Amino acid sequence: MKRNMSSIKELISQMTLEEKAGLCSGLDFWHTKPVERLGIPSVMVSDGPHGLRKQDDKVDHLGINDSIKAVCMPAGCATAASFDRELIGRMGASLGASCQHEKVSVILGPAVNIKRSPLCGRNFEYLSEDPYLAGEMAAAHINGVQSQNVGTSIKHFAANNQEHRRMSSSSNADERTLREIYFPAFETAVKKAQPWTVMCSYNRINGTYASENHWLLTEVLRDEWGFKGYVMSDWGAVSGRVEGIEAGLDLEMPSSGGVNDKKIVEAVRAGKLDEALVDQAVERILTINERYLKNAKPETEWDKEADHLLSAKIAEECMVLLKNDGVLPLAKEDAVAFIGEFAEKPRFQGGGSSHINCFKTTSALEAAQGLKVTYAQGYSVEQDDATDAMIAEAVAAAKAAKVAVVFAGLPDSYESEGYDRTHMALPASQNKLIEAVAAANPNTVVVLHNGSPVEMPWIDKVSAVLEAYLGGQAVGLATVHVLFGDANPCGHLAETFPLKLEDNPSYLFYGGEGDTADYREGVFVGYRYYDKKKMDVLFPFGHGLSYTTFAYSNLCLSKSEITDQDTLTVTVTATNTGSRAGKTVVQLYVGDKESTVLRPVRELKGFEKIELQPGESKDVTFTLDKRAFAYWNTELKDWHVESGEFTIEVGQSSRAIDVCGTVTVQSTVKLKKHYTKDSIFMDIMADPDAQKVIQPILDGFRQVFGGGGGDSEAASEAVSDEMGMAMMQYMPLRGVMSFAGQEADAEMLENMLKGLNSL
Ligand code: BGC
Repeated sequence: MKRNMSSIKELISQMTLEEKAGLCSGLDFWHTKPVERLGIPSVMVSDGPHGLRKQDDKVDHLGINDSIKAVCMPAGCATAASFDRELIGRMGASLGASCQHEKVSVILGPAVNIKRSPLCGRNFEYLSEDPYLAGEMAAAHINGVQSQNVGTSIKHFAANNQEHRRMSSSSNADERTLREIYFPAFETAVKKAQPWTVMCSYNRINGTYASENHWLLTEVLRDEWGFKGYVMSDWGAVSGRVEGIEAGLDLEMPSSGGVNDKKIVEAVRAGKLDEALVDQAVERILTINERYLKNAKPETEWDKEADHLLSAKIAEECMVLLKNDGVLPLAKEDAVAFIGEFAEKPRFQGGGSSHINCFKTTSALEAAQGLKVTYAQGYSVEQDDATDAMIAEAVAAAKAAKVAVVFAGLPDSYESEGYDRTHMALPASQNKLIEAVAAANPNTVVVLHNGSPVEMPWIDKVSAVLEAYLGGQAVGLATVHVLFGDANPCGHLAETFPLKLEDNPSYLFYGGEGDTADYREGVFVGYRYYDKKKMDVLFPFGHGLSYTTFAYSNLCLSKSEITDQDTLTVTVTATNTGSRAGKTVVQLYVGDKESTVLRPVRELKGFEKIELQPGESKDVTFTLDKRAFAYWNTELKDWHVESGEFTIEVGQSSRAIDVCGTVTVQSTVKLKKHYTKDSIFMDIMADPDAQKVIQPILDGFRQVFGGGGGDSEAASEAVSDEMGMAMMQYMPLRGVMSFAGQEADAEMLENMLKGLNSL
């Protein structure tokens, strides 16, 4: 089947309404429907996101039944920490090639929902608490996969930030919060990478299911962002199918068994649904399918061994060295004890629809063969326990070694698709083990396998912590490379590690009441909150150590003043000040120094990962445009920059800023004025045009209340000029006028307001 757009339209014109309605839902769990009489084949889609989970037609979709043998790459929690667009692009390309080999048209992912709380069961699949980082990494992933002429399905659109009641809960957030925090990962991906498909989420948004949300699926996604592909539902996310067609949901997955197809037909026949909308959905689906079919290359080789090594390489670049007092890297001639069952059986992926049937795995213990490494189990994952005998064996191993490495983390049951965590702790057995080992050997290192932050009550007692996340099937290889210095750690946290769960900004509201999940913390998610509150955290957003050290200097801004139509070029010099080659993630944060709306102290607006030899320096350049300075203005329904000074901070984490500068940005947009008699004096005085009009009244007020030269002595004794102004600032215009001795007659007020509002 090789057709162009006009022939797809032509084809649609030959279809019966039943055939068209049929195309708007799956054939089964994984295929679109064929229309044999017109030569339209069925195509397959598969999970995603970090490996190919191709299943048989008749099986479940949650990974309970086996899928084909494949390669499990590091999960989103890890890959985001690489801060490396090119690397993730390479991972995407390898996923795309495996899809070509397996005749899969679309791989379901990336999953980009914002990590609102560390508790979300699916955080291991998601990328970040930061929308800029999530968007950049998502776009790189999509571009990589689609370079192989295989589609992606960025998911889950939108505001799907909890698993608890995920199919019925309503994520209630104001528009600014959605636009600034929960949408940009999707927006950036659409604008920079044009995913072939978008998967809408299960949840409702402000009361309306994502699958029926016209604003979301049509106005924002297509009309504003320019999305061109088709929208599919998450598996079982459809409530009202006819409403879905109207909203812009093209493909329902999986099959509805014909029930919803019938509803579409009936609605058209009853004149309740415009047939043109059905045609449009069919056209979008067929256009994407056609794109795949035209470029299908089942002869593409899938070299799983090569992908296994790629997976190890990616994992190396993702691991975050959280703490190191100098014990790492380990020397290959030293006696080292690997302690903890995860050293032998690593946890490297999460549960649910992303679960890969790996063709092989490499544990740290296997990868350490030939080195002086001993092993003690330490705890039992299955029993969720560490017996006295296990602890004693671990302590003995630790004592006999120069360095003890405890492999800890979350067992499968602790975090998974389908439900949320209830706490942020490691299993008690593992905490107990770490304490015992740390007491036995001062050189204790902890390697963590988890998809989301954990509390570390033992942090001050251990020498080093390596966050390996869920690092894919070759994680053991990567871990050994990093521990022994064959690879220099260069991952940085894509999320804050709070000291305790209760510190998280969504703590009071997360999960919601019944089906109502109110996003009351607004835009203050992750470091946007911790920084505003000046709170101590365990490890800040962007943090990551290396076996070398870096310093940034020579911050240079192309201009000291720009308008919101200009771009600003920021250059900084990064230097490797240590004695090993390494990679640093240069992070650029922007902050509005003064604003009339509530804004975070700093927000990530640029990052570059660069490699530097010892002593080497490189210049890194960032280009900032309007969006880097803007907030979402609900009245304008657009991004808006408030004139004033902005900080430009460049550092190695959100809390390790090396260099800082300032730029003044002038807005070119005049906001409409809405002064009324109830507008307060302070707001009017903050507006330079309005200030001129109001100045005579101010002078009148001074006359009456004295202070700065008024003629009422009694008044000036009682109220200084400063006090008078401080009191007056909150006074509404109507009050100020009468205080100032002016007859606030209605007509005069009216005229003044007209004048003020037309400025
Ligand atoms: C998940 C999706 C997944 C789909 C197909 C759903 O339960 O939420 O992320 O792609 O199943 O397996």
